[in-house]
Amino acid sequence: MQRVAVYPGSFDPVTNGHVDIVKRGLKLFDKIIIAILHNSSKEFLFSIEERIEMIKISFENIPNIEVDAFDGLLVDYAKKKNADAILRGMRAVSDFEYEFQLALMNRKLAREVQTVFLMTGLRWIFTSSSIIKEAARYGGDIEGMVPPVVDKKLKEKFGFV
Ligand code: PNS
Repeated sequence: MQRVAVYPGSFDPVTNGHVDIVKRGLKLFDKIIIAILHNSSKEFLFSIEERIEMIKISFENIPNIEVDAFDGLLVDYAKKKNADAILRGMRAVSDFEYEFQLALMNRKLAREVQTVFLMTGLRWIFTSSSIIKEAARYGGDIEGMVPPVVDKKLKEKFGFV
């Protein structure tokens, strides 16, 4: 039986922390669907097409990955995809409250959908898409924190090429 996980997020943009979680998640699951939040009230720097493209390039040598976009409730999407679990990465304690709330709300909405957490690797504990965007916006060097395609795209977006 194939074990499938949905790895949801904004991925605005994808970081090496996300890549690490997916690679390690593939030791637990046969397939991971990277599900990008589409129509939300959130403001994104990158369009859904740009985010999909960056993820596809970042994972091009990694098998058993699907990249997709979703809107509406995450649990509905997970059920539609027949996923066994929702996969989330957890960084420092500061992530805990939000992740706890999200997981419990998802459990309330659909008891059959489980959430699995992987602790972020120590190297990525302080990285987030937001802090990376903030640094990149002012020309900060973010090499090694994001896949090369994302580094390039951020430089283009903020006019540093
Ligand atoms: O990368 P993020 O921004 O932390 O990801 C958050 C995400 C996409 C997992 C969360 O916002 C989400 O699942 N949104 C879809 C709507 C939903 O189901 N919300 C949770 C229950 S109300």
